[in-house]
Amino acid sequence: MLSDWINLADAERDGLAKLDQGPRDYFAGGAGDEVTLRENVAAWGHWRLRPRVLNDVREVSTVAEVLGRPVDLPVLVAPVAYQRLAHPEAERGMAVGAAAAGTVMCLSTLSTTRPAEVAAAAPGARHWFQLYAFKDAAVTRALMDEAIEAGFEAILVTADAPPGGNRERDRRNRFTLPRELGTPSLTAATGGSEALTIEQTFALMNHALTWSDVESLASECSIPVFVKGVLTAEDAVLALDHGAAGVVVSNHGGRQLDRSLASADALPEIAETLDGRAALLVDGGIRRGIDVATALALGADAVLVGRPALWGLAAGGHEGVAAVLGLLREELELTLALCGCTSPTDLGRTHVRRAPVTSVYSV
Ligand SMILES: Cc1cc2nc3c(=O)[nH]c(=O)nc-3n(C[C@H](O)[C@H](O)[C@H](O)COP(=O)(O)O)c2cc1C
Repeated sequence: MLSDWINLADAERDGLAKLDQGPRDYFAGGAGDEVTLRENVAAWGHWRLRPRVLNDVREVSTVAEVLGRPVDLPVLVAPVAYQRLAHPEAERGMAVGAAAAGTVMCLSTLSTTRPAEVAAAAPGARHWFQLYAFKDAAVTRALMDEAIEAGFEAILVTADAPPGGNRERDRRNRFTLPRELGTPSLTAATGGSEALTIEQTFALMNHALTWSDVESLASECSIPVFVKGVLTAEDAVLALDHGAAGVVVSNHGGRQLDRSLASADALPEIAETLDGRAALLVDGGIRRGIDVATALALGADAVLVGRPALWGLAAGGHEGVAAVLGLLREELELTLALCGCTSPTDLGRTHVRRAPVTSVYSV
């Protein structure tokens, strides 16, 4: 029961229980030995809060700004492929849940629902589009144009794929998409009629993408472009130099390069280098309001959650998504108050320090 959820682990348990093994492992799994998958969660726990006291915290708000507009919660919904595998409401349910929480939903290129349908499901809500670049530039362009046409307000160009990571759970399960599950925008953009398999889809993607392609995309695009999948200060600077409005610090939820840095470990150097010059988002392993507060204190403007929102969707459709985001909102609000903050913008670098090594909390 959604109303019994105390924290995101409850949503995860109920969401996983709804899924057959193939989709469950596709959603939950990571690359290789899943070191980065696990460290993404654990690394947030390597930080400790330095709370300030006696600050009058009767009125605490979680409202924050992303791209110059307010969100009720600085937790966005990350782009996650093939959501119809999780629940029949699919991306529409995700959009409705995100809208109920007053936040942005990012739609994957590999969506089972077209951008206009997502926009219609949650009118007035904020939507961003995640873009994979394809070998045929006209396909990339058509996908981007469709999202802009539907009123989406930013593009996240994913830089850490293709190629797809070594997902051993999927290989062991011989996981394939159900035949009836398609990616209608991609099918329309490629001019095909048959649904594509995951392998066929990755084969169509542009494996030769470079920073100059990001520059062309950003210059042709009428809405802000983010680069998603940045883990170093060097690449964050290159993203800005090539026209990006911001970066998403991310390792794709541990699904691409195993043993790449956990997001929480990559964030500080990037935040320090960018120093507020561009929008800075982070995802990977956020499971607690305290994780959100830590990310904001380290310099992020907002975070994204992938799997938690998906567990909410699997367990309870749009209500499950809203419940997951609601739990994060409550936890963030309490964390802010106990840190002596009344708004996310009150959090700064002085509110966190690395935990002493001997007391690292293992999740
Ligand atoms: C099942 C699944 C599918 C994903 N599909 C995409 C995708 O299509 N495009 C993309 O840029 N990221 C994709 N991601 C990565 C997420 O956007 C995000 O970076 C990641 O889930 C964050 O980690 P978290 O799940 O621990 O919150 C996917 C993640 C999962 C779990």
